[in-house]
Amino acid sequence: MRNPTATGAPCIALLSERIDLRYLEPAFRAACPGIDLRHGTNVDALGALDQIDAAVCWFPPHGLLAQMPRLRLVQSLAAGVEHITADASLPPQVPLCRIVDSGMALGMNAFVCGAVIRHQRAMDHYRALAAQARWEPRHPQSPEQHTVGIAGLGHLGTACATALAAIGYRVRGWSRSAKSSGPAGVQAFHGAAQLDEFLGGCNTLVCLLPLTAETEGFLDARCFARLPHGAHVINVGRGAHLVEGDLLDALASGQIAAATLDAFSTEPLPPGHPFWHDSRITVTPHIATRTSLAVIAGQTLENLAQVDHGLSPPRAVDTGRGY
Ligand code: NAP
Ligand code: GLV
Repeated sequence: MRNPTATGAPCIALLSERIDLRYLEPAFRAACPGIDLRHGTNVDALGALDQIDAAVCWFPPHGLLAQMPRLRLVQSLAAGVEHITADASLPPQVPLCRIVDSGMALGMNAFVCGAVIRHQRAMDHYRALAAQARWEPRHPQSPEQHTVGIAGLGHLGTACATALAAIGYRVRGWSRSAKSSGPAGVQAFHGAAQLDEFLGGCNTLVCLLPLTAETEGFLDARCFARLPHGAHVINVGRGAHLVEGDLLDALASGQIAAATLDAFSTEPLPPGHPFWHDSRITVTPHIATRTSLAVIAGQTLENLAQVDHGLSPPRAVDTGRGY
């Protein structure tokens, strides 16, 4: 079913209750001149809902997608889709796609490698010494003596594991299913049965899981207790992966030495939140990586074209699994 606009170009709704998605418009217009773009969170703003072919979403208003009878694609503007699957009325017959982008993986590599190195090479310690003009060298620990565990060995986790292994870290990864061929030099673990063994060796633990019913609260007291004493935790997944009180307790006991947090249960992180005031916690405002606007527009249009050719779109999510 194609949209018979004068130009033959599709009608795409930009839907978010959190941010103004009109910044995407130039990229869509460049990729598809004549495109009919709608923006808003209700019927009044969006116009006739029966003209909308696809919706690009970041926390879309619940219930709206189900009112679009022509809808043939729900496109997340992110790698994660939990902000869409949270809508219980999501039409099950409409494919849901996410962004899978090599540029996004490069950005995540840089963020994760930077955070690992900063802590493992004690950069904050030397910065504090330098502020007092103190020259106090310590023998540096080799990357080979430091194990980084990546929870979530998918598109982004595999890229980070590969990059960290290439610069000499011992790397292990944990996924839901067994991997017949994982990244070279990366020790692979999978499933609940191998979780404790995986965690037991991680001097740094990186959370790159999707947020699902199974992974919510993954970074909790139980997880922290299984890590080596003084571990560094990096959360570049979602805020709800972390049980915030358990992290504060683990920092207080010294079981966790440092945390690098990019995603939070409440974003923006509220001004009075204790994470802002703890020097062992690095807070970044959900910027670990992003996708270019051209990639979002390009993947959306490509996915819609595939659907219109009767094909299963690339980068479709298994909504039963939740990622
Ligand atoms: P992906 O390719 O779908 O990979 C997900 C990985 O998690 C897979 O290895 C999967 O296992 C594993 N997994 C899922 N459920 C699991 C479970 N219950 N137990 C163990 N492993 C499980 O996802 P991606 O593209 O790498 O993205 C991962 C997440 O990163 C996104 O969902 C998003 O939340 C986050 N993200 C954050 C930012 C940021 O800027 N902070 C940017 C982009 C993405 P299998 O391999 O067995 O399927
Ligand atoms: C960002 O958080 C994403 O999921 O792409």
